[in-house]
Amino acid sequence: MDVSACSTWVEVDLGAIHQNVSLLKQITGVTVMAVVKANAYGHGIVETARAALAGGAGWCGVARIEEALVLRQAGIQAPILVTGYTSEQRLAEAMDFDVSLTVYAPEQAEIFSKVAQSLKTRLKVHAKIDISMGRLGVFPEEGLQFVRRLNQLPRLAVEGVFTHFASADEPKNPVTDRAIDRFQGLMDELGAEGLRPPLVHAANSATALYYPRARFDLVRCGISIYGLHPSSEALLPAGFRAALAWKARLTSIKTLPPGYGVGYNARYVTIHHESIGTISVGYADGFRRRLGNFALVRGQRVPVVGGVCMDQCMLQLDQVLGARMGDEVVLIGRQGDSSITAEEVADAWGTVNYEVVCGLAARIPRFYLGQ
Ligand SMILES: Cc1ncc(COP(=O)(O)O)c(C=O)c1O
Repeated sequence: MDVSACSTWVEVDLGAIHQNVSLLKQITGVTVMAVVKANAYGHGIVETARAALAGGAGWCGVARIEEALVLRQAGIQAPILVTGYTSEQRLAEAMDFDVSLTVYAPEQAEIFSKVAQSLKTRLKVHAKIDISMGRLGVFPEEGLQFVRRLNQLPRLAVEGVFTHFASADEPKNPVTDRAIDRFQGLMDELGAEGLRPPLVHAANSATALYYPRARFDLVRCGISIYGLHPSSEALLPAGFRAALAWKARLTSIKTLPPGYGVGYNARYVTIHHESIGTISVGYADGFRRRLGNFALVRGQRVPVVGGVCMDQCMLQLDQVLGARMGDEVVLIGRQGDSSITAEEVADAWGTVNYEVVCGLAARIPRFYLGQ
């Protein structure tokens, strides 16, 4: 199947992912973990992971064991870290498939060790320190004791210690510097006891780019490998390229008479004879059910009119000369001299670019370019 057979599709430029990872490696000078959770932020987990590893990433990061197993089943042999919760029942799989897990509470560490002992295998763990998120992890003051205990527990291999910063995407906010100081303090304590594990890591994309002293041994980069800006304050440097485009095709075009309601509850009513096109993109694809959306047709920016339906929405095409059924429509990406970025869509939706791309539904076919 190719794009000509699809009513809507996503194109992912794997060359861009490859290049973005190489740039991150160059800029940071440390190992890059490609964060490919959530289907690689909507880009497709396996293809993205392969492109990132080819671009020089040394690790893959995922949120859940299920995601790690998808990578292993696809034959990806690079080290993988699950940064979230893993249930006791899944520990055997983690060990079988050589997946490293996050351990973030003393009682959990005891369970991990017991299971590993019962299976006579070694479980690789990274200790999580909670400095500013209020979610998983022990407080920095408890960090030394926690890592000491991890080192005593049989069958646990303490491979890493890490944290995650809450506000690194606001580089002017001093809280991140204070958080780095606290994490560094704990690393000094661990170092003094010879307990500093081989991999200390703290940085997501914004931290990796804006806080060089927080790069430690490895940076965990998600949004930047996709060529998307961490925030409007933490922009990517020149050279990064957005990898994803979201496209559709005009599936209908017709002239509606004045006073004709468009979509459920007639949230748009034509004023005069209006050219209205339809595309197979709806809220079930991740397009928000709101007024004020927009798209590109023949290089022109046009408004989405009426409510977004589950599988379709309508475009006002009066400004587009010669629009035809089958024409390509761009929801994110470039068309001629015009473009719509994920950041722009996020602004319109009152959210962040992360949510826009992560929300792209699994049912949208993905096509990979630049392989
Ligand atoms: C623990 C952890 N590390 C790294 C990342 C990657 O962050 P970013 O996409 O901002 O680079 C995430 C993403 O949310 C995360 O939860």
